[in-house]
Amino acid sequence: MTDKKANLILPPSGALYELDVISGTEGPDAIDITRLYSDAGVFTYDPGFVSTASCHSSITYIDGDEGILRYRGYPIEQLAAKSTFVEVAYLLLYGELPNAGQLSDFNGIITRHTMVNEALLRFFEGYHYDAHPMAMMVGVVGSLAGFYHDSLDIFDSRQRDICAHRLIAKIPTIAAACHKHNIGEPVMYPRNDLSYSANFMHMLKGTPCESYEVDPLAERALDLLFILHADHEQNASTSTVRLAGSSGANPFACVSAGITSLWGPAHGGANEAVLTMLEEMGSVRNIDKYIARAKDKDDPYRLMGFGHRVYKNHDPRARIIREVCHLVLEKLADSNNPLFELALKLEEIAVNDEYFVERKLYPNVDFYSGIIYRALGIPDNMFTVMFAIARTVGWVSHWTEMVSDPQFRIGRPRQIYDGAPKRDYSPIGERG
Ligand code: CMC
Repeated sequence: MTDKKANLILPPSGALYELDVISGTEGPDAIDITRLYSDAGVFTYDPGFVSTASCHSSITYIDGDEGILRYRGYPIEQLAAKSTFVEVAYLLLYGELPNAGQLSDFNGIITRHTMVNEALLRFFEGYHYDAHPMAMMVGVVGSLAGFYHDSLDIFDSRQRDICAHRLIAKIPTIAAACHKHNIGEPVMYPRNDLSYSANFMHMLKGTPCESYEVDPLAERALDLLFILHADHEQNASTSTVRLAGSSGANPFACVSAGITSLWGPAHGGANEAVLTMLEEMGSVRNIDKYIARAKDKDDPYRLMGFGHRVYKNHDPRARIIREVCHLVLEKLADSNNPLFELALKLEEIAVNDEYFVERKLYPNVDFYSGIIYRALGIPDNMFTVMFAIARTVGWVSHWTEMVSDPQFRIGRPRQIYDGAPKRDYSPIGERG
């Protein structure tokens, strides 16, 4: 709480309203308008929520002007260099880094929840062989709601925990099964002796006839990508999970709603779209043509992997990923990877172009992630699924935080109505 106040004078009466100003640990202050409608009879208007804080949260902090990202106070650069995805998952969920015993217990729990009910696997039979994996993710993850009736009391912290563990553990299994359905291979069961990332690669690339040896660099690169994508405060998909969950809805169904939101090309779908864009460009010679299209106001075309609602300086995740990209391509792929060369050239041209400089459009996390995924042998249509695996941790952490908040209530935005004023129903024969 704070004793800072903001004054609002409303026309036409000139009535003065005093509003509380809320300060967080860091970041801009926020004007508390909760009682504005009941006291003054007006709404605030902020399409796209550009200036709206929708909740209190102590999970992730972003400073878009300085290019800062911290999970529970820890800089993303330190976590990327020193931590593991499972440790970061614990940190996001519970607020503190685990000690050795806590980490080992948590690892054990996540490992033991990786199998899915056999009946769930039969859901895949209902999908066409070439269904997009994100379409299957939306349906199959939502269907988990029909399996776990022992974790449905969202106000019981133990049940919430079990639900969070199930989601984090089972998402990679479901994700790999989506790919197996696409290519017609048998679903692979998880291996409890492998790390979170190595187990995923085993389920994605292995077959019952031949096991898949995961390269240690690939395992580390994947783990790092999962860390970088694990949370990003109130982004579209996380806000979707929160809003869906605000009605008290089933958490598995809420995460399915988050996957739906993530799929869009303006959000998690961008990593797949970047590769499509680079392939379409084909050569450094065509970059100017595509940049011209992105700048043309009459053309809806955008450079995928550029720009961010919050980062107006640089995306700290993109900096980390760029380095990893070099490393992975050097060791695991053809070092003269033409797409990477093209991406580097595109980045160089765009970041020096007046249009992009003026609008503060820098490469974001998705600009490089697809290139790394491809070098790791992950198919293009699985890129956004990879994002979903990682972001599940953020979604469940935010859902848990929201549900355990004493101020928890249904989210219900208002609108400015621009439709027809009251009019009377006319019989069909009298209409023009
Ligand atoms: N290419 C060309 N112009 C762009 C781009 C782009 N990628 N992004 C924004 N602009 C222009 C836009 O046309 C507008 O210009 P003007 O002021 O002249 O009208 C200005 O920059 C501001 O854009 P905006 O659409 O108002 O910005 P936003 O904050 O609403 O959108 C964004 C943010 C990420 C959706 C957008 O930059 C975009 O569509 N980028 C491409 C998709 C992408 O890479 N998404 C991944 C985001 S990072 C991963 C994640 O968190 O999901």
